[in-house]
Amino acid sequence: MSIPTAAERAIRRQIARHGAITFSEYMARALYGPGGYYSRHNAGADYYTSPQVHPAFGALLTVHLFHLWTLLDRPRPFTILEPGAGNGLLCGDILATAAYLPDGFHEAVRYIACDLRAMSGRERGEAQTHRIVADALRLPLRGGIGCVISNELLDALPVHRVRMESSNLRELYVDVESDVADGYEGQLVERVREPSTPLLERRLVELGIELSEGQTAEICLLLEDWALSVASVLDRGFALTIDYGRSAVDLYDPGQRPHGTLVTYRAHRQTDSPLEETGRQDITAQVDFTSAQSAGERAGLITVGNVAQGAYLSRLGLQALRRNHSPPDQPASGWITLPVGPNGLPPDSLPEPVIPSSDDGRDWLTGLTHLARPGGLGDFRVLVQAKGVPTEPATAALHWLDGQPASHGYSPAELAAMIPACVLRLGPEHFRFG
Ligand SMILES: C[S@@+](CC[C@H](N)C(=O)[O-])C[C@H]1O[C@@H](n2cnc3c(N)ncnc32)[C@H](O)[C@@H]1O
Repeated sequence: MSIPTAAERAIRRQIARHGAITFSEYMARALYGPGGYYSRHNAGADYYTSPQVHPAFGALLTVHLFHLWTLLDRPRPFTILEPGAGNGLLCGDILATAAYLPDGFHEAVRYIACDLRAMSGRERGEAQTHRIVADALRLPLRGGIGCVISNELLDALPVHRVRMESSNLRELYVDVESDVADGYEGQLVERVREPSTPLLERRLVELGIELSEGQTAEICLLLEDWALSVASVLDRGFALTIDYGRSAVDLYDPGQRPHGTLVTYRAHRQTDSPLEETGRQDITAQVDFTSAQSAGERAGLITVGNVAQGAYLSRLGLQALRRNHSPPDQPASGWITLPVGPNGLPPDSLPEPVIPSSDDGRDWLTGLTHLARPGGLGDFRVLVQAKGVPTEPATAALHWLDGQPASHGYSPAELAAMIPACVLRLGPEHFRFG
């Protein structure tokens, strides 16, 4: 048995003083409390996200951001706010790509990367980035014109766990095992009790979901706060929310997911033991996108659409990137072709030359493929919402990806073709699939 972390000790003290806590409170403390998982310097080493898999993810998102900027009549500044920005990888990729897109887009961008903790990581695009330590559920900004973008933030929000027992909705709590010999500290255990709040039952009623006998499920009540927070930041603009999750009907399907979707990760392995290794492992649950969407609508965010990441990236030009930058086309010596910036001049900071090895080439293609792989990242959802934007430009946010012409005159593939190889290189921060 390993030594309890500061997070686990704090949880035990809390339970000793006030009795069992809801799973949601346990998860909040285990992930974000003092000594919690996300306060550790190597948080993120246990999972990989799309920006960690390949820079093409951020590059293609930038193609979409360019289009959204034009739909908002090219505001200056065009604020990109990224809550849950983690190590800032996505921010770096977006700013690096923006430098090669036309019409002065790069100069218009103001990027605000926000997380609960101070971030360390790659510093690409530092000059244009403001980093703030803030809670995404209470963003301290108002009146922005631009885009709120988040990747894998919602799945990290604490969830309540409920179970249907004898036709009654019950909630799972976390307690300390009491029936133990003197001097031995009991294990953290699950207790099933009355729901801590009627909001849990209300959520299921609103969704028209009836859990089956014995079914366990997660409910994230913080989606309301998240939607209000996003809506209050944006005067006019879009929200792109990317995460793994499903519609409520699918998520709460008793045949498919009788035990819910809560999982834990340690060292890239799914461990599924949320009450063990408290503070040392990641805990996450799939996002209920039906509730995320309706919470957004109540907060004033129009739902533009919800598409699978694989289809989204493909329509944004994933194939064009694969065609233009496949390893055989990459220079085989230490020389690289200098990328030309938007004014026909090389960008200010030139990348270091690299000699791509065949391993790099394989990793590059594998990573790119993973971004859109069905059954993996390709099944993630991309929820697009708008605020303060008339219906026509709002719907054009996604119609352009299906071939509708845009006032700027570019297709997604034409913009993707402007992204140079140096922006798409894998670095030490990228995950290698081996
Ligand atoms: C799974 S990581 C994703 C990081 C990054 N977006 C990526 O794609 O690599 C979730 C991130 O959300 C942050 N986070 C969780 N809850 C948050 C909140 N309420 N406000 C701001 N950041 C939060 C965590 O600190 C962590 O950096």
